[in-house]
Parts: sequence; structure tokens; C-alpha cells
Amino acid sequence: MLSKLEREFATYAQSFYTGEEAVDRNLRLKLAHSFRVRNEMRRLAEAESFSPEAMCEALRTALLHDLSRFEQFQRFQTFNDAESFDHGDRSAELAASGDWLEGFAPEARDAILTAIRIHNKLAVPPGLAERTDLLARAIRDADKLDIIPILLGYLEDPENESIVFGLSEKPELSALVLESIRRGECPRHRDMRTVCDFVASKFLWVNDLNFNWSREEFLRRGYLDRIMAHLPQTPVFRQLHDDARRRLTSA
Ligand SMILES: [Fe+2]
Repeated sequence: MLSKLEREFATYAQSFYTGEEAVDRNLRLKLAHSFRVRNEMRRLAEAESFSPEAMCEALRTALLHDLSRFEQFQRFQTFNDAESFDHGDRSAELAASGDWLEGFAPEARDAILTAIRIHNKLAVPPGLAERTDLLARAIRDADKLDIIPILLGYLEDPENESIVFGLSEKPELSALVLESIRRGECPRHRDMRTVCDFVASKFLWVNDLNFNWSREEFLRRGYLDRIMAHLPQTPVFRQLHDDARRRLTSA
């Protein structure tokens, strides 16, 4: 049974359906992603002993974090922010309008909106209020935990191009991406040229997991090995895999 909010969320997402399968399947994907990220968030918040208020705010952050994805794909037929709009900023803007945050006190609303706005940025900015910082770090983890299986699903059945933005199938890393990886930084989407760039950059995500529970889940679910299985078995990719594993097991 869906709650009133869940029904409203699904109705909102469905209002962007076009009747064209190539578009609608991507909207369905984001709708399902939003619910799954919310479920990941519940597990994370329980495992990390969030207070009841923080749990409530975290769940709302998770459900709404990609609120603008429906509009984005309908208008631009892409999830690539560089070709459309910054979906973190736009999701926060949409979440602030309407009744999405009804019942939350102003400080809680601000914390949720800020966490949504920065969920897709390169890093969590320093100096956030404690609750905002907690939500921001939690949504980034919950989101990553669900994106990996979406990506793996694509790699196992590569019919849906929009997941990897139509990148080249060349089995190599491109120069700019290799540079960022060597610096230990997660490459930017705009520098990615190949599917390998996109897939291998997921190894760097382990540097941006904020909670022990998320790190354990990454390992427990075998994400690193499953990512590696889709990359060329060459030293550069093996090294990235091994570094990521070491990072997760030593943290
Ligand atoms: Fe997102």
C-alpha cells in the first residue's frame, strides 16, 4: 500500500509520461530509483542510528532527491546535466514549491532542500549545519548504492543508451579521465569519452562513501568485482579495482 505522499510522487512522475516508450521507460526507471533510494536510506539511517527526526528528514530527502529528472528527460531526452540543467538545483527548486515538504519546520525544510541541491555536486561543501551535513552525506551514499546496480544492469543488457549517455565503446580510459583518477579525484562527466571512463570512475566512488554501513554494503554486494567484470582485464583497471577494495577494507 502506498502512502498519500508516495501516490502523489508517482502521480507527479507519471504526469510527464509521453506515451512514447523510449522516453517513458527512462521516467519509470527514475521513479523506481527514487523509491529504492528511499529504501536504501531507511536501512542506512537505521544502521547508523539516526534520531527519529533525522530519519524522517532523510527519507523525504531520498524520495525527492531526483524530483526534476522527470521534467529533465521529458524536455531534453537526456539525464546529462551538461546538456540540460543541473538536476540537483532544479530538484531542490521543485521540492520547495508545492506541498512536498508540508509538515516540516523551516530549519528541517532548509536542511532537506540543501541536501537535495548538493546531492549531485562533486563534494559536500564544508561548513554546513550539522543536520544538513548529515542529510547531504546520507543521500549521496544511498544514491550511489542504487546507481551501481542500475549501471550493472545496463552493462549486462546494453539496450538503454541513456544510462551511459551514448559514450564510445572503445576499451580504454581517455586522457583527462586518467589524469583525474591519478589525482584520486572522481572524473567529471564532461571529460568522459568512453563507457570505460564512466564505469571505471565508479571505483572512485568509494572515496566518497560517508558511512560505515554504505562501505560494508558496497563490499557485501560485490559491487567492485561486478564493476571489474565489465572492464578490460588490464593492469590499469585491475589497479583501480584493487585500490578501491583496499580503501573499503581499511576504512
Ligand atoms: Fe540525482
